[in-house]
Amino acid sequence: MKKKHISRMAAGFLAAALTVSSAPFVLAADGDTDIGKVVYSFDFEDDADVSYFTNRGENDTTQLSVSTDHATSGSSSMLASGRSKDWNGPAFRLDDKLEPYTEYYISAKIKGKYYTNATFSFQYNTSDGETKYQNLVQNLNQSNYPAEDGWVTLPLTKVSFTDEQTGVYVYFEGGQDDLYIDEFVVSQVPVTDIEQDIPSLSAVFADAFKIGNAITPNNLSSKPTMDLVAKHFSGSLTAGNEMKPDAVLNQAACQTYFEETGDDTVPQISFGAAKPFLNYCQKNNIPVRIHTLVWHSQTPDWFFKEGYDNNGDWVSPEKMTQRMENYIKAYFEELVKLYPDIDFYACDVVNEAWTDDGKPRNPGEQGNGGSSNSAWVKVYGDNSFIESAFTFARKYAPEGCKLYYNDFNEYMPNKTDKIIEMALELNGKGVLDGIGMQSHLDARSGSDAFPSVNVYKKALDKFCETGLDIQITELDVTTANNPTAENHEQQAQYYKEIMDTIYSQKDSISAVVFWGVTDDQSWRADRDPLLFDAEYKAKPAFYAIMEGREIPDPVETTTKAPITTLPAVTTTPGETVEPTLLGDANNDGIVDIADATRILQAIGNGDKYGLTPVQEANADCYDPGSGITALDALAIQKLDAKVISSLPEIDDAWVPTPLNS
Ligand code: XIL
Repeated sequence: MKKKHISRMAAGFLAAALTVSSAPFVLAADGDTDIGKVVYSFDFEDDADVSYFTNRGENDTTQLSVSTDHATSGSSSMLASGRSKDWNGPAFRLDDKLEPYTEYYISAKIKGKYYTNATFSFQYNTSDGETKYQNLVQNLNQSNYPAEDGWVTLPLTKVSFTDEQTGVYVYFEGGQDDLYIDEFVVSQVPVTDIEQDIPSLSAVFADAFKIGNAITPNNLSSKPTMDLVAKHFSGSLTAGNEMKPDAVLNQAACQTYFEETGDDTVPQISFGAAKPFLNYCQKNNIPVRIHTLVWHSQTPDWFFKEGYDNNGDWVSPEKMTQRMENYIKAYFEELVKLYPDIDFYACDVVNEAWTDDGKPRNPGEQGNGGSSNSAWVKVYGDNSFIESAFTFARKYAPEGCKLYYNDFNEYMPNKTDKIIEMALELNGKGVLDGIGMQSHLDARSGSDAFPSVNVYKKALDKFCETGLDIQITELDVTTANNPTAENHEQQAQYYKEIMDTIYSQKDSISAVVFWGVTDDQSWRADRDPLLFDAEYKAKPAFYAIMEGREIPDPVETTTKAPITTLPAVTTTPGETVEPTLLGDANNDGIVDIADATRILQAIGNGDKYGLTPVQEANADCYDPGSGITALDALAIQKLDAKVISSLPEIDDAWVPTPLNS
């Protein structure tokens, strides 16, 4: 399938339409936007544009067609009609047209009825064959987003995928009324350089504790984000969501296992969603914090029900204990089997089990999420499941993996005391090593910060007095909505005082983990809670927490990647450069899957990811001398999968198919 080149005419419609609707980017004369190179642009004036989309929902009545009923540009748009399920709708596949590990912006206009509340979503299959879904933009309606003549503007939305994800789609859903789509544009997010001349957080705090972060699969496709991770946060990484029960538990496999064996106490799991994250940690030798085994939230109700069925009865405490043990056993065994080289050094065994009053949560379902009720309490009647969880975790966790109880609002006095009482008891029984303070804090506008630094310090000091290991596991500090420069300064001051407090207890604290890299990617993005802004620049808060610290010299990144950087080869223009190692496109001394990725990035990004002359010579491995194409990446993938035994020895049995076909 050929990429659609934007025509002058199409560029004209875009420029016009975007100006009047004040969409968040401007089209340049060459058809590109100031937010990146346009790779697809559809105005749905003919069937050809509609043919790039599929109708989501097999065996359904949904039809996609060109319609002249409504249009934001030209005379027509794409109509999805006959939608008989809320989740039917037009879908655009990404992984057969776009490159992995690359960020794209998608923008579009959508029109339904005046009350239509649409959702823009993302779905993919993991390498274990499970389908995962994510809502990217919810409540797309006329009051929430810029709208004109009933057309709602989808905000610029970043999408990306890794080479572990297939069947990757974005789609519109919501309601069952007709949906019209127009001006659907995909552009490539420009890659920017990070500030290399600032000190590395990991290095500055190396005398005190590990500095880490939590990342999501999308982050893996953002080169600047991962450059920031490598430079500042390589001491510890947590998966933002992919190692939680709802990501790991596989309902279909649980039910199949039950049908086949009659045993419904052995939950079936899969780390498919976490694999891109874990592969990154393995490759770069980054210690992993496991988050989390037992939690009321992000845990499906069916896990607690007979037959693993949402509508089943609640299981007995005895059965739940068996499920819990088998889950924890399978979790650790599978992780260690898949990733024997990763240092799983910490695990949040139980998360958020005590209320601010130091009581168990209310019993109940999660429903569609968002409930503060606990199905664990519903089954057990109390918090006795906590001790079982730690006992099983100790039994099955790999050696060296420390076990933590983790919570938020841990500075609420009754909660502080309850956590300490429980932690000491479980530590006495040999099953708990430490306490995780999430530390989702709020600097607000300075004086009414919550908690105050003093209140936070009081709790931290109390936790440290226990002698247990303390980790700050999810640090972020929100400020006001639509923050001003002054808000950012107040946030910086608060961050500094909190970090100084934490540093003063460095002998008791083994890791400080931030919950996100850049403000725009945070789970609390509306209130800028992190150290780096959307442009990957260090914020006042970054400089504030460095204040008064000894800055190591020379400034170096602390990535512990097992990479041997080969000496640069000096070349003169016009000289033919010989490959140093055919296939080694990143010139790190080994030929592996990272080289295939590097080649795809180079192709996808043009000279943004420019290869050096030696890297180019190494990359051109499929048919040396013929230039770099996706076939070179494919050859390396085949080599990695042991389909071929060396490069460029391509045997007859191997008939390459272009990646994009
Ligand atoms: C958050 C994630 O960051 C979000 O992406 C998700 O939608 C909800 O969960 N306490 C925790 C984390 O222990 O797991 C939560 O992470 C934030 C609060």
